[in-house]
Amino acid sequence: MSQDLWTKVDTYINQITIKPDAALDAASASAVAANLPPISVTPAYGKLLHLIARAHGSKRILEIGTLAGYSTIWLARAVLPDGHVISLESNAAHAQIARDNMLRAGLSGRVQIRVGDALETLPQLVTEKQRPFDFVFIDADRTNLAEYFDWAVKLSRQGSVIIVDNVVRKGAVIDESSDDINVKGVRRFNERLAVDTRVAATMMQTVSSKGYDGFAMALVL
Ligand code: SAH
Ligand code: DHB
Ligand code: MG
Repeated sequence: MSQDLWTKVDTYINQITIKPDAALDAASASAVAANLPPISVTPAYGKLLHLIARAHGSKRILEIGTLAGYSTIWLARAVLPDGHVISLESNAAHAQIARDNMLRAGLSGRVQIRVGDALETLPQLVTEKQRPFDFVFIDADRTNLAEYFDWAVKLSRQGSVIIVDNVVRKGAVIDESSDDINVKGVRRFNERLAVDTRVAATMMQTVSSKGYDGFAMALVL
């Protein structure tokens, strides 16, 4: 089993399940052109988020970590025609690229990108008394993952779904003595999740063109 095979199978899966798509392709190309890190969700993962949100009937979606807005497009398309996505991004340059991509995708009216550290913009959403989000996708830095998840639960309702990306980290997540701040952040989140009575949760390991990782899914009780 190798990265080469995972990448080939990912390409194969994309060919079967995802039609050529100008807006998504433009968003991917914009990320490459701007030298952004290659860490957007894969096409198949983007579509998984889309399908879960759509099957769930989500109308209000919160995303933490926008980058170029590749995942945002998948999420915004799940809430059409009357839904809304708020996506939080700390890097103003990333946010601008993402806004351009929303415009190209015809989704600007349904997506609001807010610039700022999520540790500051999340409490703002509570202060504003935003109506609860039906679906939350957490995909920003891992150091504050436990805090992001707490805010996500606060901003949710019974039945909301929360997906957390990158909780396996090439398997490093089981290394108790890891010095990696990302691994430590994920482990701190996982330890809290294990005793969190507010949600029912699972985790799935994944392999893809992006390597070996995984995501957590939580249902708010
Ligand atoms: N969800 C995107 C990828 C997000 S990459 C996709 O799949 O297409 C992670 C993003 O989180 C980066 O753009 C990074 O700038 C942002 N980020 C990192 N730390 C953050 C923070 N503290 N608050 C908000 N965004 C943050
Ligand atoms: C990284 C971040 C991600 O959100 C991801 O999906 C993959 C890798 C990273 O920072 O290494
Ligand atoms: Mg990710």
